[in-house]
Amino acid sequence: MYQTQVTEASQFIQGKLKNEPTVGLILGSGLGVLADEIENPTTIAYTEIPHFPESTVSGHKGQLVVGELEGRQVIAMQGRFHYYEGYDMKQVTFPVRVMKALGVETLFVTNAAGGINEAFQPGNLMIITDHINNMGDSPLIGPNDEELGPRFPDMSEAYDRDLINHAKQSADRLSLKVQEGVYVGNTGPAYETGAEIRMLRTMGGDAVGMSTVPEVMVANHAGIRVLGISCISNMAAGILDQPLTHDEVIETTAQVREDFLGFVKELLKTLPA
Ligand code: 6GU
Repeated sequence: MYQTQVTEASQFIQGKLKNEPTVGLILGSGLGVLADEIENPTTIAYTEIPHFPESTVSGHKGQLVVGELEGRQVIAMQGRFHYYEGYDMKQVTFPVRVMKALGVETLFVTNAAGGINEAFQPGNLMIITDHINNMGDSPLIGPNDEELGPRFPDMSEAYDRDLINHAKQSADRLSLKVQEGVYVGNTGPAYETGAEIRMLRTMGGDAVGMSTVPEVMVANHAGIRVLGISCISNMAAGILDQPLTHDEVIETTAQVREDFLGFVKELLKTLPA
């Protein structure tokens, strides 16, 4: 049933493409501008695609942009599906299954996240080295289709080590200071309390957000290698003496936009096979 829907969605998309995309890009809050740089783009609204959910958050466009970026065939999601919007985990990760069916082998997942690590500053980019699934749910619950992946997938290198090294080297080449750390996936939609942030810091988290973890779990299950990048849009509760607003998240991502765009383009340009 689910796989039939994935096939119908991917065949619909394939019918509009000349080339097979090999790199998937999931663009987080305020980071969707990257898709505007894709050359010879084929743009497909989520509403057109069979079985695709519809995204609702402002700052998200809700379309796929497929084409060429830095010499790579890419498929970008301009806007993702969040668990807090009420989609279940299978809906949130449906596009990743579709990307796999289309031939994607490498996935770049990006997000705006709150800084937990006190050495971080708003505007920093962070290479995600690992994550903590704090959502109390998993997209892999339910009957397992062995055609898609194993019942008990390994998550010991959820973020590909070679890609992490590639990202560090790419940042060095650009003289771009990037942080590294563990991303905690919370459900949202409320930001955390100060006590929760202290707990997450004790657990080993460096940044916190409301996305990414489900998509990365499904990508690993599907055998897609993952690189994760967080844009630290604000510090989490209890670090600075100020309330958190979604406007701040959008404002900061606008400021780091140039760093982010340059970084992802360099990552693509020099991506090892
Ligand atoms: Cl502080 N928390 C969560 N859960 N998501 C965020 C955030 C904080 N800042 C940006 N996104």
